[in-house]
Amino acid sequence: MKFFDSEYFTYNSNELFCEGVSLTAIKEGAGTPAYVYSKKFFADRYTEFEQAFSKVNHKIFYATKANFNLNVMKTFYDLGSGIDVNSGGELYRALKIGADPKRMLLTGVGKTKDEIKLGLEHDVLMIKAESVDEVYFINSIAKEMGKTASAAIRVNPDVDPLTHPYISTGLAENKFGIESARAEEIILECSRLSNVKITGIDIHIGSQITSINPFVESVIKMVELIKRLELKGLKIEHFDMGGGFGITYNDEIPFSPKELADALIPIFMQVDCQILFEPGRFLTGNGGVLLTEVLFTKSNSNKNFVIVDAAMTDLLRPSIYKAYHHVQPVIKNGSKDITADIVGPVCESGDFLAKNREISECKMGDLLAVMSAGAYGMVMASNYNARRRPPEIIVDKNKYYICRARETYEHLLYDEKIIDELH
Ligand code: LLP
Repeated sequence: MKFFDSEYFTYNSNELFCEGVSLTAIKEGAGTPAYVYSKKFFADRYTEFEQAFSKVNHKIFYATKANFNLNVMKTFYDLGSGIDVNSGGELYRALKIGADPKRMLLTGVGKTKDEIKLGLEHDVLMIKAESVDEVYFINSIAKEMGKTASAAIRVNPDVDPLTHPYISTGLAENKFGIESARAEEIILECSRLSNVKITGIDIHIGSQITSINPFVESVIKMVELIKRLELKGLKIEHFDMGGGFGITYNDEIPFSPKELADALIPIFMQVDCQILFEPGRFLTGNGGVLLTEVLFTKSNSNKNFVIVDAAMTDLLRPSIYKAYHHVQPVIKNGSKDITADIVGPVCESGDFLAKNREISECKMGDLLAVMSAGAYGMVMASNYNARRRPPEIIVDKNKYYICRARETYEHLLYDEKIIDELH
């Protein structure tokens, strides 16, 4: 089998460490399953992205949907990032870390009145509208509140991001944004509303995109649109090009921020706007693992199974996208490789972390690390089968911190009660 080794998750005398802390020590202190993140990874990726675009006026808004642990959010915020929030709940979490709403973007294809009001009450930098209806709705709410809303309009550039269909968002068939062909007319119409100021154009073409071309294609289209709007007298202050920058889960070779910058900066230079980015996965994905213990192993005539204590309820991506997450033992013990399905305890055949995967033979009590679990891991966890969601741990050099404890059985009953009249 292959072993993934990086500066952040590395084997030290055959034992896997996160920065300076062994994963075995974390298991002893926090149990399994558990998410473990490297703070240095987050900081290094943020700095890498930030520096790549230093030649243009830009700002990163961390897409907190990828990992909304308060300490992860705060790590990026303290480095200078803004926060892209996709719901009232994410906005609430951003407020909880003390984030300035002027460093927040409010995103979402279907915001409720309450969510728009919340964004307006706090004066977020921009509310990104995804339909004409929504712009009019924002306008009427802002009017009621005696405010002028700063808004961006999300345009669907109709380019193929060449990624998993469930995470592709920039094709005409997807639900996101307004139609590119009518964008100029719609944006000009919306700019005449009394209580909305259109300050931005926004795109987000999909996620886990590993080729630069779809970005170049859509940025060219949007820069042309911005020029046309400016000729008609509408100055666009922000061009938000979303996130979607792919990472290596297995053998993908994505572009680096520097390569992306080299391709995009000359196009950005044609307009005078601040460029906004909303990376989520790039900043967090390979900075986390899901630590899990082998409960049992078994074999039948044609398959080996490794049954672990983590499940689809902890990491959903393999089940819903057939996503690849590398799985490797915490202790390299030189045992022979086998091919196995690595499965969880949930009552579904779809509950697997890896299928037909080459892995060193393991036994009850062994620890495994499910790699690349820092993005869209814990945030997509659920309580199905009344399982408690796992803890989240951040390692900073030689110390680890339990930033969110494992849920208790009481958490599972939150505000749920037996109603006597019903029985
Ligand atoms: N901005 C917007 C408007 C988005 O919708 C997204 C992700 C991002 C930024 C951040 O994209 P990123 O840089 O992380 O690719 N659950 C899926 C991913 C869904 C992404 C949804 N939107 C997964 O596990 O792969």
